[in-house]
Amino acid sequence: MEKVTTKTFMQLKSRKEKLALLTAYDWLTARLLDECGIDGILVGDSANMVFYGQPTTLSITMDQMIYHTKAVAQAATRALVIGDMPFMSYQVDAQEALRNAGRFLKEGGAEAVKLEGGKEIVPTVRRLVGVGIPVMGHIGLVPQSVHRFGGYGVRGKGEEEAEYLVESANLLADAGCFSLILEKIPVDLAKRITEEVKIPTIGIAAGPFCDGQILVVQDMLGLFEEFKPKFVRRYAQLADQMRKAFCQYIEDVKGGKFPSIEESY
Ligand code: KIV
Repeated sequence: MEKVTTKTFMQLKSRKEKLALLTAYDWLTARLLDECGIDGILVGDSANMVFYGQPTTLSITMDQMIYHTKAVAQAATRALVIGDMPFMSYQVDAQEALRNAGRFLKEGGAEAVKLEGGKEIVPTVRRLVGVGIPVMGHIGLVPQSVHRFGGYGVRGKGEEEAEYLVESANLLADAGCFSLILEKIPVDLAKRITEEVKIPTIGIAAGPFCDGQILVVQDMLGLFEEFKPKFVRRYAQLADQMRKAFCQYIEDVKGGKFPSIEESY
């Protein structure tokens, strides 16, 4: 299978073929995703919640993100690997953003970075793209702004915010983003943005009309059970299976049933 690049993303949009992306934070998961033909793997800052058990994405550090990105990049031979820039690694100024984005490519082995934010981050996007760092944008529900919005509700329901999102999408595309995550916005707004912008839109809780879709892998595998929003389709119930396996192991060890002579040397 041919290596997926940022160019492939654009080609798939122009051919009206859907892009399938998922998150990963470790080598094993990334290797399975890559084997199955996933187009892109996002090393998301959602790792802070589903890997580290924190209540928000805010406290994950650059060093933690680089650590996970390295593991994923090591496994992905076909998929495009995108490193998610953590909170406060790109907001202070474009210079700091550039240094941190560079680390994702140089140390982490990522092939692109993702930044949350609308038209206000356009100068930073231009700076990164200008030195050859591909940027994926992310608008709508932007989890790093959870405290500003007071939660994880649907964005873009009112006319003013919807117009802000459409304008932001166009400006981010003009600034050189190669794709754009649309998170938790009404289906009609996602459709409008997808039709208007020249770059592929990747939806999460944004309906079926986006150019591609992404989910957090622990959500779609039924591993993360803290909450289950309606946009998550569970393709497996791994938490149940793992619990069963762990309980069986404990029972076997305590009952002297594991290991058997056949499993011994
Ligand atoms: O951090 C993440 O996993 C994300 C996706 C939900 C898009 O930003």
